[in-house]
Amino acid sequence: MVMNKTEALLRMSAEKTECYLRAGFENAEKDLMPLTEAEQYSLLGGGKRIRPFLTFEFCRVLGGKEEAAAPFASAIEMIHTYSLIHDDLPCMDDDTYRRGRLTCHKRFDEATAVLAGDALLTDAFGVAAGNKHVSAEVAREAVLLLSKAAGSHGMVGGQILDMGAEKKQMSGIGELLRLQSLKTGALIRVAAGLGCLAAGKRSDSPEFAAADRYAAGIGLAFQIVDDILDVEGNAEQLGKATGVDAKMNKVTFMSFYTVKEARAYAARLTDEAKSAIAFLPESETLCELADYLLDRKY
Ligand code: IPE
Ligand code: IPE
Ligand code: MG
Ligand code: MG
Ligand code: MG
Repeated sequence: MVMNKTEALLRMSAEKTECYLRAGFENAEKDLMPLTEAEQYSLLGGGKRIRPFLTFEFCRVLGGKEEAAAPFASAIEMIHTYSLIHDDLPCMDDDTYRRGRLTCHKRFDEATAVLAGDALLTDAFGVAAGNKHVSAEVAREAVLLLSKAAGSHGMVGGQILDMGAEKKQMSGIGELLRLQSLKTGALIRVAAGLGCLAAGKRSDSPEFAAADRYAAGIGLAFQIVDDILDVEGNAEQLGKATGVDAKMNKVTFMSFYTVKEARAYAARLTDEAKSAIAFLPESETLCELADYLLDRKY
């Protein structure tokens, strides 16, 4: 497979993340096998690793060390993977394929999948709090931000709105923007934010604010593209089924826009995101990532 520059950089940061994540299972106790096997199956079985990339890259451009970013990047990927395991359950999107293989509950069983998700979520906070390459104060701030992004005021809040939105009519695009910014945006934003923290920039710094604006823009564009791909993507390439949103009567960007309009909207958000970080040194890679995500096919 021929890789472009962004794909090659994504692969490199994915390898760093996977190496760190794999080490977390080295001393797994034998009697916990079904649980740890299910966790590793979902966590180490593919995925674009966009969120870890953001953490590593913001840390790099702001002059931080890779070792300080790695625990944060890994914790975010653990939370993201848990969110996918639970999102695929029969009580949610009821999906059979994820990252090109059977979903966790299909490969194992529902109880194991629920528990694998629970374990990844809980252990992620230990991984972030245990970051030895930042001060205790920075680790504490990171854990607080992570908790807000993952919980009821973030991803989980977005997921409950997403479930409810199947049944009721939305008042308009504002409601959908809130849903998507919680469901997808919150974790993408915290991935960028924790990269800044790892480089010693606190949450009240201009660099953090810029990273947050960039991540909010690409996060929304990312979900718009996800909704478009559910309509016109290729399931094999995506590694997950298409047409799920329509089947589940989901309210998505496709409920408000044509594909052409949605693409234009995502392109506008991408441009705004790139402008937000233009003043940062060496921000080209993050700008290229934004463009890459806009045109992605998986
Ligand atoms: C899928 O996320 C769920 C959404 C938030 C749209 P990704 O597209 O980042 O999934 P992986 O990690 O690459 O499998
Ligand atoms: C899920 O959004 C986002 C999560 C918080 C897991 P989707 O339900 O659209 O994600 P896919 O399309 O299944 O990856
Ligand atoms: Mg869903
Ligand atoms: Mg889903
Ligand atoms: Mg989707």
